[in-house]
Amino acid sequence: MPRLVSLSRAAKLVGISRGALQKHIHDHELESFEGQVSLDDIERLFPDAEIEDNHIIEDLENIVEQALKRAHGRKLATLLAPDSYTLAARLQSITKEHAHTKNQVNELINLLTTIKGTITGLAETSDTPVLFEDLNNLINDAIEKIHVPIMKPAPLLEKDNLLRVMAAQVHIKNSGHEFFVDGTNSILEAGLSTGLALNYGCSNGNCGKCKAKLISGEIKKTRPHDFVFSESDKLQNYFLCCSNTAITDIEIEADEAGSEKDIPEQLISGKVKKAEQLSDDVMILNLKTPRTKRLRFLAGQNVILSRGDLEPLELPIASCPCDDMNIQFHILRSEHPFINYIYNDLKSSDAIHIKGPTGSFILDENSNLPVIFIAFDTGYAPINSLIEHAVTLEHAEFIHLYWVHNGDRPYMHNQCHAWEDALDNFSYQPIPYQGEVNSENTQEILNVLVSDYPDISNKNIYLCGAENMVRQTENILLDHNANKELLKIHALKI
Ligand code: FES
Repeated sequence: MPRLVSLSRAAKLVGISRGALQKHIHDHELESFEGQVSLDDIERLFPDAEIEDNHIIEDLENIVEQALKRAHGRKLATLLAPDSYTLAARLQSITKEHAHTKNQVNELINLLTTIKGTITGLAETSDTPVLFEDLNNLINDAIEKIHVPIMKPAPLLEKDNLLRVMAAQVHIKNSGHEFFVDGTNSILEAGLSTGLALNYGCSNGNCGKCKAKLISGEIKKTRPHDFVFSESDKLQNYFLCCSNTAITDIEIEADEAGSEKDIPEQLISGKVKKAEQLSDDVMILNLKTPRTKRLRFLAGQNVILSRGDLEPLELPIASCPCDDMNIQFHILRSEHPFINYIYNDLKSSDAIHIKGPTGSFILDENSNLPVIFIAFDTGYAPINSLIEHAVTLEHAEFIHLYWVHNGDRPYMHNQCHAWEDALDNFSYQPIPYQGEVNSENTQEILNVLVSDYPDISNKNIYLCGAENMVRQTENILLDHNANKELLKIHALKI
C-alpha cells in the first residue's frame, strides 16, 4: 500500500508551496485522500524531484556541522538541530514503524505459504490438477518477489523518513492548519512563525493562554512553567504550547484568533531598536518588545504609540505578526508632535508605549481568491504586513501589488522587486503620480488595473492610503464592478 503523507509534508519533500500542490489537486492531476496524498503519485507528478535538490540534506549537514562546532566549544548564534533526546525519540518512532511493517510482511509470507500448502493438498485429489498448479505458480512468484531485495530507489520515501527525524508535524484538529516544529522551537514559536494566530499571552509558562489539548503523538517539556493545570486538565492531556516541543507528529486542539475581536488589548513598553530615514519624508521605526511581553496582533492592524506628555499617535504596523518582538512602522513626516519627536529627538533605546491592536484591515483567510493590494505612499505599511503574512501562510493563489507613489520610486522598491523575483505568485507594479491624487490620475490607476484584470469582481482588493485617495479609488473601483464584499479599505489618519 502506498505511503500517504500530508499536503504540507509532500510540499516540503518536493520543494514547492502547499498552495501549488493544492492547485494540482484542484486541476485533478493529483488525488487527495482525506487531505493526504500518496508518495507514489507525488513521485509520478514530480519525476525530477532529486534528493540532492532538497534542503533536508543541507539541514542534516548543518546538524553535523553544529555538533562538530559544539564539540570544539564554539558558540553558536542559532541552533536549528533537535536536541539528542528528540532525535533519539524520533528515530525510535520510525524504528517501531519499520519493525511493525516487517512483522506484517512476515505474516503475509506465512499466509501465502499456508494457502500454498492447502492448494497442493487439493491438487492431489482433484480431477483438474493443472488449474491448481497455475495457482501455486502465482503464489510462488509472489513469495519470491517479497524475498527479492527492492532495487528500485525510492527517493521520496527516504526523504520523508529523513524529514520525520528533522521536524515533527503539528496538525490542529479544530482548524485543519498544519505546521512543522524543527530545531529546539516550542510548538507556539513554530506555529507563530508559520503565520498562525495561535492564542498566547506571556510566552513563558505563566498565563495558561496557550493551553492546548494533545490528541495523539508525543511532546516534551522544554522549560518548567508556573501555570498550574487542574486535575481535569491533566486527565484530558492539556499542555502549554509555549513550554513544549513536538517529539513525533502530533494532533492537537488549540485556539486560534479568527478575527480582530479575538485579540485582547495590550499595553506594552517597547524600546527603540532602530530608526532609519529612507527619504526626506519617510522614516522606518523599529521597536522591540520585551521577550516576555510580546505584541499579539493580526497583520494589517494598528497600535497607538505614546510617550510622556506627547499627543499619542495611531499607526499601522508594517511588520508581520510572525515576528511579534520586532514591530515596524513607516512614518510620513508631518506636524504631529509625536512625529516631530520621532524625526528630531528620538534616541536609541527610548521607551515608547504600545497600546492595541486596533482596526479590522486584516486578511480574509477564508478566501483563496487572487489578491490585489493598492497602496498609496505610506499606505504601503499595513500592506507590507499583509503581504508578509499572506506569503508566510501561502494564502493566495496570486498576489498583485500596485504601489501608487509620489517621487522617483517607492521607498521600499528594492524589497518589492526582490519579492517579485523570488515568488512565483507575486507581481509588483509601481505607479507614479505627480502633485495631488485627483479623479484624473485615479482613473489612470484603474486603467492599469483593468488592463491587467478586465474582471475585478472576483478579486479580493485591499486599498490603503490617505482618506481622499482611497475614497476616490473606492468609487471608481465600485463603478467598475468591484465586489463591495471583497473590497477592504484603510483610510490613514496621518
Ligand atoms: S503563553 Fe502564557 S503560558 Fe504559554
